[in-house]
Amino acid sequence: MSGPHSDDLDLSLRPATADDYAGFAALFPELGVDDPVPDEPRWRARFLPGTWVAARDGALVGYVFFEILAGVGYVRNVVVGPRARGLGIGRALMGVAAAAMRAAGCATWRLNVMPTNAPAIGLYRALGMERRHASAALVIPWDRVEALAGEAGVSTRAIAAAERAAIEARFELPRGQLDHLAAAASVRLVRLCPTDGDTPDTPDDLGLGFAAFDVDFPGCFPFRVARPTLARPLLEGLRPLARPEHTSVGVVAEGDEALVELLLAAGARIRFRFVHMVGDLPGASTT
Ligand SMILES: CC(C)(COP(=O)(O)OP(=O)(O)OC[C@H]1O[C@@H](n2cnc3c(N)ncnc32)[C@H](O)[C@@H]1OP(=O)(O)O)[C@@H](O)C(=O)NCCC(=O)NCCS
Repeated sequence: MSGPHSDDLDLSLRPATADDYAGFAALFPELGVDDPVPDEPRWRARFLPGTWVAARDGALVGYVFFEILAGVGYVRNVVVGPRARGLGIGRALMGVAAAAMRAAGCATWRLNVMPTNAPAIGLYRALGMERRHASAALVIPWDRVEALAGEAGVSTRAIAAAERAAIEARFELPRGQLDHLAAAASVRLVRLCPTDGDTPDTPDDLGLGFAAFDVDFPGCFPFRVARPTLARPLLEGLRPLARPEHTSVGVVAEGDEALVELLLAAGARIRFRFVHMVGDLPGASTT
């Protein structure tokens, strides 16, 4: 399968293959987050299926990694090598992502970007995207969870497949996001529930809170709670699932500054802040 081709730039755009790992690993740090570069097995499992690359003279100069949920496209990374910027390659990569999303029936797309990343925000605005909410990626040592202001009477359980759509609706997530996460071997989907074991769950219980905990990373994204004080029982329910060698866990607080404050007060630190941008997918002219 070959992708669009720009004669002006002598650029070829094509789906990534397993041989592209080294090029990916060289470009990934340009994202400017302090995440370690995913190792090759993780890249093959999580990134490769949704990645397109841009190549010039046989060398990788950029990539876009995206996911297609039910009706919504999610751009996870877009990177152009420092020496190839300002030539339209970022726009071209977003174009192939948009085309794949449209072909899969998506009407809108979304992504996260650091508020200080003017080139990326410029690119996304040029494609019609707008800021939705501000978020923070934090990390909290497991032994600080007990310092969180919490509440009793709430515990955790695994999310059943039949509950996913209702949870997505309660937390205004794109339909299909939890199915997508559930397919990853390292992700545990856990929700809050009342501790009273005799009473069947009500639909409202599905809105208490939930996390998608990637035990390899290790971190939770999404991590959503109806009230900040529910973060403690949710984290306490996740801790037994954590690998023993991991002494802390990541938590992404989306559009929830009260949760950020509560986590900071207990000893969490902010790794970085970002904003969520959304937009209608541009028309056929992007490819
Ligand atoms: C963001 C990034 C992918 C843009 O790639 P690029 O190939 O340089 O962008 P393009 O040349 O295609 O530019 C497309 C549009 O983006 C905007 N843009 C690009 N660079 C910009 C800058 N320095 N300042 C403001 N807007 C900028 C412009 O609107 C531009 O359109 P124009 O050329 O018609 O004015 C690139 O800067 C990059 O890889 N940065 C590091 C990684 C990163 O931060 N990725 C985003 C993480 S969310």
